[in-house]
Amino acid sequence: MKKAITVLMIMISSVAFVQLNNTFQKEDPQYIPPSKQRSGDATKGYQYLTTGDYLKSGIPYSFFIMGIPKDSNNFLQRTGLNEKLPHDFTAVKAPNGEIVVAPNCLQCHSQVFNGKLIVGLGNSFSDFTVNRQSTALIAEGMLKKLTGINAKKYEAAKNFITALKAISPKLITSTKGVNLADGLAALLVSHRDPATLQWSDKISLELPDEIIPTDVPAWWLLKKKHGMFYNGFGRGDFGRFLMASNLLTVTDTTEAAEADTHFNDVLAFINSIQPPSYPKPINEQLAKEGKEIFTAACSNCHGTYGDDGRYPNLLIPESIIKTDSALFTSNYSNPQFVEWFNKSWFTSGDHPAQLVPYRGYIAPPLDGIWVTAPYMHNGSVPDLESMLNSTARPTYWQRSFSKPSYNYDIPGWNHETKDGPGGSEVYNTTLKGYGNYGHTFGDHLSAKERKAVIEYLKTL
Ligand code: HEC
Ligand code: HEC
Repeated sequence: MKKAITVLMIMISSVAFVQLNNTFQKEDPQYIPPSKQRSGDATKGYQYLTTGDYLKSGIPYSFFIMGIPKDSNNFLQRTGLNEKLPHDFTAVKAPNGEIVVAPNCLQCHSQVFNGKLIVGLGNSFSDFTVNRQSTALIAEGMLKKLTGINAKKYEAAKNFITALKAISPKLITSTKGVNLADGLAALLVSHRDPATLQWSDKISLELPDEIIPTDVPAWWLLKKKHGMFYNGFGRGDFGRFLMASNLLTVTDTTEAAEADTHFNDVLAFINSIQPPSYPKPINEQLAKEGKEIFTAACSNCHGTYGDDGRYPNLLIPESIIKTDSALFTSNYSNPQFVEWFNKSWFTSGDHPAQLVPYRGYIAPPLDGIWVTAPYMHNGSVPDLESMLNSTARPTYWQRSFSKPSYNYDIPGWNHETKDGPGGSEVYNTTLKGYGNYGHTFGDHLSAKERKAVIEYLKTL
């Protein structure tokens, strides 16, 4: 009987959904068509990702080793000069032959979880609340002193230090754990010529002062997606977007073109990553009930799973999703970044990329969703239980960054609800871009049904 009522409820809400669609004819969810991708070799891609020289400028190796305590984890089991480095830095040879240490993609795209490094899990422990300009200036001062002794070291670090000095004071978030890669990309291109990619200390684009925070999506989702990023606006050759973080230090298009020849392999590696399985027992009966509810209430947007799974690749307009709009809006109120990209080197050649902004967000695949808290594109929701019950979402909440503790039942971060803002470890959802509203599709479920859906989500 209960089940019948559930199914009925879901049917009513699906009808409501269809009616909503009819009312907003122009605002139907939009299908993202696939674009052609280069094929590649996953093993080579992994090698390049973890040891490659996609950034060719950084801190001279001898300085880095002095300044950063030796990392004995060697999570990636790298050898040679990389053996002693943290997993998110790589030793590379600068064009002038000096060995430097540069940050790599795993800064933001890996996270230690339960003592193990999960490559591809978005890092929700980054700390961008601090202005690193003073660090950049100190490093520059030290290097300049060395110029007389060893000018080559300074030369090898110059691009990196120049970029760090320019971006540090402008890229600061209010809360630990959120990322600012979108703002970083916009700022870096504002210093570069779209055709030649050459750096200029002068900013050529007008950019907003505010930094819109995002969570970092898990890499294992990309193989299903036809559009990259939360906004789904990354179209065309994905490798071109993957390599875009070399805008930090790249010298010119010759250097960019060389890096570009490896990112088909990096894409093959990213597409080979599988999500980690839920490590605790699952109540199979409850998960089965949850699957039925999910299929009726959620799969239109998020797809179905298993061997015959189907992912619809839909962009959901603001009028339906109603989540914080700051991220996608920024592309409309400040189209300069999109315009820069769409006339840049990245759109040239036989595998061009393109940005196609949209007023809404992609409904993401939910594989491995149990491990990717916090939720929403801005990481504003601490666990799945409150993701599925918008009335239970805390306005201010704090998790531990020094002793992170994961709750496997509700999956998400153990946290405390706070009465008001307070320091950089309290997530303040009242700030612009940090909102936790919208996506109310789980609200009509009963507590028991929600539990069942969550039990099912643990199996994905
Ligand atoms: C400073 C942090 C940072 C670094 C470094 C970084 N990324 Fe990202 N990456 C992000 C964030 C944040 C997003 C999501 C942005 C958005 O969707 O608006 C993202 C998105 C992506 C996506 C899209 C995933 C999807 O499902 O749409 C891929 C793939 C990716 N990055 C690959 C890379 C690679 C490869 C590198 C290194 C060459 C790299 N990233 C370096 C922060 C970073
Ligand atoms: C109308 C389409 C739609 C429906 C129906 C829908 N979702 Fe979503 N869902 C989305 C979109 C779009 C997002 C991304 C929102 C954002 O980040 O701002 C999302 C985000 C999520 C997330 C967070 C993903 C992450 O990585 O942070 C979860 C979990 C989720 N949905 C589960 C569900 C469940 C369970 C249901 C059914 C009860 C459901 N959704 C129904 C479109 C939908």
